[in-house]
Amino acid sequence: MKVLIIGSGGREHAIADAFSRSNKTREIIISPGNAGMAEDFRCLPLSGQDEIVEFCHAEAVDLVFIGPEQPIKDGLSDLLKKEGIRVLAPSQAAARLETSKAFAKQLMLANQIPTASYSLLRDEVQARDFLAKCSYPIVLKADGLAAGKGVIICSNEPEAMQACASLFRQSAGKSGVLAEEYLQGWEVSLFAFCAQDAFQTSLFAQDHKQLYDQDKGPNTGGMGAVCPVPEAEKYRQEIEDTILAPVLNAMRELGCPYEGVLYLGLMITHEGPKVVEFNCRFGDPETQALLPLLKTDFMQLCLAITEGRVKELKLEWFDKTAVAVVLAAPGYPAAYKKGIKIQIPPLDSKVFFSGVRRGKRGLISWGGRVLSVMSLADTLENARTTVYRDIYSIEFTQKVYRKDIGLRKNLLP
Ligand code: AMP
Ligand code: GLY
Repeated sequence: MKVLIIGSGGREHAIADAFSRSNKTREIIISPGNAGMAEDFRCLPLSGQDEIVEFCHAEAVDLVFIGPEQPIKDGLSDLLKKEGIRVLAPSQAAARLETSKAFAKQLMLANQIPTASYSLLRDEVQARDFLAKCSYPIVLKADGLAAGKGVIICSNEPEAMQACASLFRQSAGKSGVLAEEYLQGWEVSLFAFCAQDAFQTSLFAQDHKQLYDQDKGPNTGGMGAVCPVPEAEKYRQEIEDTILAPVLNAMRELGCPYEGVLYLGLMITHEGPKVVEFNCRFGDPETQALLPLLKTDFMQLCLAITEGRVKELKLEWFDKTAVAVVLAAPGYPAAYKKGIKIQIPPLDSKVFFSGVRRGKRGLISWGGRVLSVMSLADTLENARTTVYRDIYSIEFTQKVYRKDIGLRKNLLP
């Protein structure tokens, strides 16, 4: 099989790595990819949907795997399907679970799916009225896609008024701002492989969203991940029965069945698991810790999803723990420095590249999150030891990273 992966981050690098372990994979192409991935895979920048379709026909691509949400929102999966090209990603209509938080909330409310209660604020007048009366803390979110920058937790009215004004100014806030009840608990991610009326779930993974150790500092796209999360296992059945099955049923009833990978961002609360968010794709950096643990052939899994045979497939995972630590550029998640030289000696860990380019004398940083380093071992302690020893030997001055990935105590407050 010849596969085309759309995207350029560490997640797509880990997806390419998973495909490369399948003996059913003949060739892997990534568009656009990045200079780090290009050391192992063919990368080429296809610009726009038409060029992607043309390329797939010309090169007889057997499967397109879309990594990020934006091309799905733009309708790439629908177009590829129409062109008779096999694609692993939900339709634009099904992806509304991520692309419109208001859509996702309404669907959860209508189907009694556990999530934070909310109000949709359509303009600043309505917002002022609501924020004067609500209880604090409150969580404000732009309705649309905001690349991780659309959520602000506010502890009082003046803070909320200011946050709300800034969200309305973002393009993601044009369709409204959601005010959500603040959920207390601990967070975990779960991925569902969905096709027609069946699904199977992955191991649990845990992102570390704040910039600094002990979950301090600003929110980022994710500073590291651990997989599996044993404390979450006892909630699996409840999550499948009270969240996943009803969501997929509801999507079918709406005439837009969900096919592809569905990301559940969950808060484990005193009342049980509740949905924080849905995403229409794999998570970044969770994927860098999840897919290396997949024992089942990844290409077979993808084919089973696109052929509606998910239930038949035996999903198997290695009995190990993976830790992925993100190395970011100084300044991230605000304006960050570019062009820092990166040199990587031979390592026991695997490196998945995201924000890098080729400079005159090798790789240089070119993004906020630059790369992630992943190690898997029989125990969490051993995986952490290897990953941090390897990070120490990577030359990347001023790199910013967390030292506590995998150490979170998943306890209810
Ligand atoms: P989201 O982009 O919706 O995943 O939100 C980003 C982060 O904000 C989440 O990972 C949570 O840590 C936090 N968050 C979002 N919604 C809530 C909520 N209702 N209660 C508490 N924390 C939240
Ligand atoms: N790790 C969070 C995300 O992919 O949205």
